[in-house]
Amino acid sequence: MADRLTIFDTTLRDGEQSPGISLDVAEKLEIAEQLARLGVDYVEAGFPVASQGDFEAVETIAKEVGTRGDGSPVIAGLSRTHLADVDRCWEALRHADRARIHVFISTSPNHMEHMLRMTPEQVVAETRSGVARAREHTGDVEFSPQDATRTPLDFMMEVLQAAVDAGATTLNIPDTVGYGIPWDFGALIQYVRRGIAGDFVISTHCHNDLGLATANSLAGVQAGARQVEVCVNGIGERAGNAALEEVVMAVNTRPDQFPGVEVGVRTEELARTSRLVSRLTGYPVQFNKAVVGRNAFAHESGIHQHGVLADTSTYEIIEASSVGQQGAQIVLGKHSGRHAFRDTLQKMGLSVEGDALNAAFTRFKELADRKVQITEADLEAIVAEEIGGVGTEPAFTLEALEVTGGTVGVPRARVVLVRDGDKLEASCDGDGMIDAACAAIKAASGIEATLTDFNVSSVTGGIDALGDVVVQVDCDGVKVSGRGVSTDVVEASARAFLNATNKIVGVRATKDRRKPIDQVTP
Ligand code: KIV
Ligand code: ZN
Repeated sequence: MADRLTIFDTTLRDGEQSPGISLDVAEKLEIAEQLARLGVDYVEAGFPVASQGDFEAVETIAKEVGTRGDGSPVIAGLSRTHLADVDRCWEALRHADRARIHVFISTSPNHMEHMLRMTPEQVVAETRSGVARAREHTGDVEFSPQDATRTPLDFMMEVLQAAVDAGATTLNIPDTVGYGIPWDFGALIQYVRRGIAGDFVISTHCHNDLGLATANSLAGVQAGARQVEVCVNGIGERAGNAALEEVVMAVNTRPDQFPGVEVGVRTEELARTSRLVSRLTGYPVQFNKAVVGRNAFAHESGIHQHGVLADTSTYEIIEASSVGQQGAQIVLGKHSGRHAFRDTLQKMGLSVEGDALNAAFTRFKELADRKVQITEADLEAIVAEEIGGVGTEPAFTLEALEVTGGTVGVPRARVVLVRDGDKLEASCDGDGMIDAACAAIKAASGIEATLTDFNVSSVTGGIDALGDVVVQVDCDGVKVSGRGVSTDVVEASARAFLNATNKIVGVRATKDRRKPIDQVTP
């Protein structure tokens, strides 16, 4: 029997805690569906007590993704040790075929003093009662001593033993502030493995404050951890969490370093998962990001190009196709019909029907008029923009945009939006054409969103590449991201701003503002 390394994905929980990321339920479900396709073992779907939105997301994912028999991932939810939190977590998870409650409490002197205001004895007692309560609900209970790497060893061991004695089946060692150094973190994992009595799996949870999250996770695996907690694209609090794609591909690429260790992930889905998470979170993937960055398989120098043309193994240690990075060229053009379009999307795993299909098809035709080669990434980008999250109808759609600008005269934009069949038109001046377009959208929609960040890149290369704009906006303290694509950067910017505006309408409608949880948000 192979030695399985469990992949515990926390993109929807820890990843979603990245500044500026706010996913709605439909978007989280879409990511969870893709994580299931990717084949992760666990999806940590959220922190149910944190907000009504988090609760609904965990519940929806448990019902939709966690009920497909053996092939579906186990759905996990995070919980403090408070009994009411544990019960609430279970309430959200209980629909899944297999569910895990992940209980945590801080154990470092720093956190106990400044955040918990608890004595070490109280923390041990809380650990016992929280874990025992979770065990009343499910046989799969994980425990995390938060800030473990800054916790005195003896105390951490006392808490971990209490957790195992109370029924924890996985002990997760969080490097909450990214303080660990690989050999030190590996030694810590080994110490836990040897020093705690009982039957449990050891897990790593590494943050990237020193850029060592992947290295620390791998050191943990080498020392005996058999679960890694990771996020797609390495997103997460501050500098992020260990990147799923890096840890998985390191273990797969270097079996000599991890003898017998096996990962169940379908690696060909890595690139698509990365693109989806990037698109929905609004967090761009850096070009030179390992495994999933667009330059990860690009060769610039003549010598390298020569070598790779002769044999890719000269300068590539991973086959691009094995991680889904082969930028498949779709044979669709401006003469392709709706059937071919729909078939192609289905082959790509995108199921789009009804009005969303019509809207996506219209965008595809517009694009085919402007762009010669349409890649899988292009198609994904326009389809995702058109359909938004699964089942989400955008409040406003863009019917027309007209801009004038240049070095002479004041830049001006006119937009026509449609809401419930009504046309809303506005014209505004701005500092530039993009500024004018955003101002016109604000005036037409009546949503006073302020642009706080703007990023433009291209989906693929070439002079007719799709411009991919990601914006962050703030509206009365609600912070959301938006994304838009077009061969015209001003239009892409307007679409991104409108996408963010629609999200604000959604947040307002559900009144789902993430309520900050005093001192306990992990
Ligand atoms: O970083 C951390 O300590 C966490 C825990 C809740 C596992 O995210
Ligand atoms: Zn964390």
